[in-house]
Amino acid sequence: DWNMPDYIAEAVEAIRKQVGDEEVILGLSGGVDSSVAAALIHRAIGSQLTCVFVDHGLLRLNEGEMVMNMFAKNLGVKVIRVDATDQFMGKLAGVTDPEAKRKIIGREFVEVFQAEAGKLKNAKWLAQGTIYPDVIESAGKGKKTAHTIKSHHNVGGLPETLNLKLLEPLRELFKDEVRELGVALGLPHDMVYRHPFPGPGLGVRILGEVKKEYADLLRRADAIFIEELRNAVDEEGRSWYDKTSQAFAVFLPVKSVGVMGDGRTYDYVVALRAVQTQDFMTAHWAHLPHELLGRVSNRIINEVRGLNRVVYDVSGKPPATIEWE
Ligand code: XMP
Repeated sequence: DWNMPDYIAEAVEAIRKQVGDEEVILGLSGGVDSSVAAALIHRAIGSQLTCVFVDHGLLRLNEGEMVMNMFAKNLGVKVIRVDATDQFMGKLAGVTDPEAKRKIIGREFVEVFQAEAGKLKNAKWLAQGTIYPDVIESAGKGKKTAHTIKSHHNVGGLPETLNLKLLEPLRELFKDEVRELGVALGLPHDMVYRHPFPGPGLGVRILGEVKKEYADLLRRADAIFIEELRNAVDEEGRSWYDKTSQAFAVFLPVKSVGVMGDGRTYDYVVALRAVQTQDFMTAHWAHLPHELLGRVSNRIINEVRGLNRVVYDVSGKPPATIEWE
């Protein structure tokens, strides 16, 4: 039970007091937490904030443009966009092990961010979108939980070697409070209520070796799936996107035979995954209507040359995890 305008006014005041006239850098990922942190800090200190947005080439369709439009264009935030696709793809070439892929993506991310941060000589602060559940989770580190089955790489986790003071204005907030705050700060509702997206991005949704060609196919299939989920609205106005906790496409580097016109195709497969969950520790597969699945499948196969088969994942967590890697 809190009053949003008062909360924003207090948070803005606190940031100004803490930072004074010093400069702040923030790693913008396109996710909710770093976005809300950026909007709040920008409200407080304007051009003293510089955001660094690292595009690892494993983002969703048009995500980079969306981030730049929202922050640089609409809010007037200083954002440095680094297109590091080639660097990431180069390091990932030939690597098939899921944990090895996560480590490489995490390490490259830190390296690229650090190189950019190093150019901003006047920065004294590193801002992060750490929220209350992250604080609790890292306090409990070392405990073997379902979470540690995969080494989670969060784009927020940057090293101390930068020698910057930490600014974490969302440390006391729960996720739903962060979302409310984001909307109150003028971020688009759809962005703030987006499904979670893992730090390693499409890197853990392309099974085995990551290639730009695969990422390009996957991005288009995923965008069609998400668009159809958003468009499938019930009588109460709730879409299947809102009724699921996370939904995405997965690229399977497997070819199967199909027919197209009077020709034979031999193309890749995508799997669709949609789950419902409270805490992401356990999850049910979503019982999406068959007509919706059929529509998504038809569109993907007709619109994305290079894909000729779509399957639906009907596995719960446990025993399956939500991501395929
Ligand atoms: P799993 O696949 O473990 O996923 O059932 C549970 C939740 O965590 C997300 N996830 C990640 N998030 N870095 C992240 O930032 C990661 O490496 C990572 N792996 C999984 C996943 O999307 C789901 O929401």
